[in-house]
Amino acid sequence: MQATLTKTLSEVIKERHSVRKYDPAFEISQEELKSMLSEATLAPSSSNLQPWRFIVIQDEDTKRELRAIANNQEQVETASAVIAVLGDKEMYKNVEKVYRGAFEAGFMDEANMNRLIEGTNKTYPFASDEVRKNIASFDAGLVSMQLMLIAKDRGYDTVPMGGFNKEQFVEKFNVSERFFPVVLIAVGKAAQSAFQTTRLPLDDVLIDFI
Ligand SMILES: Cc1cc2nc3c(=O)[nH]c(=O)nc-3n(C[C@H](O)[C@H](O)[C@H](O)COP(=O)(O)O)c2cc1C
Repeated sequence: MQATLTKTLSEVIKERHSVRKYDPAFEISQEELKSMLSEATLAPSSSNLQPWRFIVIQDEDTKRELRAIANNQEQVETASAVIAVLGDKEMYKNVEKVYRGAFEAGFMDEANMNRLIEGTNKTYPFASDEVRKNIASFDAGLVSMQLMLIAKDRGYDTVPMGGFNKEQFVEKFNVSERFFPVVLIAVGKAAQSAFQTTRLPLDDVLIDFI
């Protein structure tokens, strides 16, 4: 009988590091990428409005072009895929679908659904662009982190990248006004281990127990 080696969440977290050297010949199927993204979207989000969108770039020519607008970072071209995580500034437009889905799944009654839809429509559209962008960026970060851990759990490696020209990205990928790029995540098979990193001591970041 073959033993199944399942890593604990703690092991996955400790083993994840940003890998910047990938096997360029290694491919990850669209089914696998979809499965990882699907799990990642179980991340929490403000009012469950899920203000994220993904563009998965696997095409070799497109990766090469993307590298040129991402500070020439090698991993953009050599990773199996680059997943661009976009934020949705108009996340409240998802509200009907989200809460009707929960109602139809039997998770809430109709009155609650209507109350939540109304509450969202009374607040989010009137918040400033900056506030909605902050909410979307935060939630896009949560889904991104989840995606990187899922990838690690499945034997892949990742690196998140903020080092790319956002304006050029918007132009190249025809990103509409509603959305904005948050981060690029390279995912693939490591050809070289990540260099180790340290963290600030907990005492430096833990302010207090009160
Ligand atoms: C928002 C964000 C943007 C980042 N941008 C880049 C980047 O453009 N290029 C890069 O090589 N690493 C980038 N990193 C990776 C960090 O350098 C890395 O996470 C950090 O040094 C800790 O190392 P570790 O991920 O290996 O633990 C980014 C990380 C984050 C969270």
